[in-house]
Amino acid sequence: MKLTAILWSLLVMTALMISSCYYDVEEELYPSGNCDTENMSFSQDVMPVFNQNCNICHATGVEQGNIILDTYEDVLPHLTNGALLGSIRHDNGFEPMPQGQPQLSACTIEKIAAWIADGAPNN
Ligand code: HEC
Repeated sequence: MKLTAILWSLLVMTALMISSCYYDVEEELYPSGNCDTENMSFSQDVMPVFNQNCNICHATGVEQGNIILDTYEDVLPHLTNGALLGSIRHDNGFEPMPQGQPQLSACTIEKIAAWIADGAPNN
C-alpha cells in the first residue's frame, strides 16, 4: 500500500514538472502573449535592464564605444538615431548588444520598444 502511494506521488510530481516545462517553452514561443507592455516606466522598467545588462560597459567612466546609459539624458541620443533598439534587437547595421552576452529576452525587448513607442517618457 505504502509503496503504491509513493509511486503515485512520484508520478504526479513528474507530470507536474513536465507540464511546467511545456509552459516555459510556450512562453518563449509566444512572448507577446503574456508580456505586459502597458504604461512602461523609464525608472521601473527600462533603467534596471540597462543597469543589469549594459552598464558594466556603458557606465560613466567605462563608456565603451563612447556610449553612456546612466541617466535619461544619457539614453535619449541613442533613441533618436535608432541605435539602442537596433542593437538590442540585433538588427542589421547595428552592433549586437549586450556585447558578448545572450540577447535580452523577447519580452524585455518588447517592453523597451513599447516605452520608446510611447514617446520615451521620463517617468
Ligand atoms: C561587454 C561590454 C558591453 C556590454 C555588456 C554592452 N555593450 Fe553596448 N557596446 C559595447 C562596445 C565595445 C560598443 C562599441 C561597438 C563597437 O564598435 O564594437 C558598444 C556599442 C553600443 C551601442 C552603439 C551600437 C551601434 O551600432 O551604434 C549601443 C546603442 C549600445 N552599445 C547599447 C548597449 C545596451 C543597450 C546594452 C545592454 C543591453 C549594451 N550595450 C551592453 C560594449 C558593451
